[in-house]
Amino acid sequence: MQLASRMSSIGTETAFEAAARARALEATGRSVIHLEIGEPDFDTPANIREAAKRAIDTGKTHYPPFPGIPELRSAIAADSALRRGFAPDPANVYVTVGGKGVMYYAILALVDPGDEVIVPDPGYPIYESVTRFVGGTPVAIPIRQENEFRLDPDELASLVTPRTKLIVINSPANPTGGVLTRGDLERIAAIAIEHDLAVLSDEIYSRILYDGAEHVSIAALPGMAERTIVLDGFSKTWAMTGWRLGYGIVPSWMGHGFGRLLINSVSGATTFAQWGAVEAIAGPQDEVDAMLREFQARRDLVVVGLNAIPGMTCLRPAGAFYVFPEISGTGLTGAELADRLLNEAGVSVLAGTAFGDVGRNHIRLSYATSRENISAALERIAGVVAPLVATGAAAR
Ligand SMILES: Cc1ncc(COP(=O)(O)O)c(C=O)c1O
Repeated sequence: MQLASRMSSIGTETAFEAAARARALEATGRSVIHLEIGEPDFDTPANIREAAKRAIDTGKTHYPPFPGIPELRSAIAADSALRRGFAPDPANVYVTVGGKGVMYYAILALVDPGDEVIVPDPGYPIYESVTRFVGGTPVAIPIRQENEFRLDPDELASLVTPRTKLIVINSPANPTGGVLTRGDLERIAAIAIEHDLAVLSDEIYSRILYDGAEHVSIAALPGMAERTIVLDGFSKTWAMTGWRLGYGIVPSWMGHGFGRLLINSVSGATTFAQWGAVEAIAGPQDEVDAMLREFQARRDLVVVGLNAIPGMTCLRPAGAFYVFPEISGTGLTGAELADRLLNEAGVSVLAGTAFGDVGRNHIRLSYATSRENISAALERIAGVVAPLVATGAAAR
């Protein structure tokens, strides 16, 4: 028996594989600090857990309407009006299994074989993987540290061809923490309108912003709601990764297709989890504020700590919970350094190339873990890197 030929073009998300490798090492008795996976270490706030328990106990255990329960779709639309300044009709909101579901459905619904999709490099690997899976061609737009990890709109314009169908943007970004400015988004919007392109705007980290940075959704810019699919969800903001809940806000012309894909795959997201999500989005937000304060303190700790290690330079990102230091001063590539950190020091990070070739001289660290873990990891990293840099300097 053989797999279908399309299976040769599907990729993966290295973070899951790296986590499995790290756990295997741990199982041999080694101590491993996990900085590889993009998952808050906090528990889901109690009010959200209680709401889901109540839902189970009151019989909310049947199939949901496939696009989501009306209470949640309305709450998401109201939240979008408040935070994005973009007030969709609740009918255009589709609740999915993870924000990842939106990515999958949007690309499946829009991309024909041979179509080109502009994806960030470095960027979340699933954009590229699903594009290839459906026979499309991913075209990488470089995201560089020199440009504060923001894409260059002129470079974006130069990548558009008659085959371009979709531009994927992600702000705040995984893996860099970079945040696009209103000016950047206005220029991206102008390109999308001029060439009649759709935009998948991955806003899963839109609440995880520091130093007063503002979240601007491209969907709120003039002429963009009808060509933008907004991807957001519950995993990151409310520490609900295991609930597997996300949502898409899609233009009306896509709604039918989007709904069909939901019906053909999952029939809707878990009903009682959706009741928990109503509480998450519409209930008290003080725990979110507390988590954000803690993330910011961790960010500062990791940025200062990494910049104190010779051979590394690390920007202070304004969003998400990742840093993406440049490490060429160690004399190693990101992949080589990630291997050595795991094997020699028990620190699990990802190679920058897990997110595209442009990340070759970077590693990604998630600081969604305790300050104690971060401090211990920094010491261990310094222990591996300092001798490398000293030997390299001596050799020069
Ligand atoms: C950029 C980005 N988009 C989407 C997702 C998917 O999140 P989920 O499916 O848990 O909602 C992630 C998760 O790591 C992410 O980093």
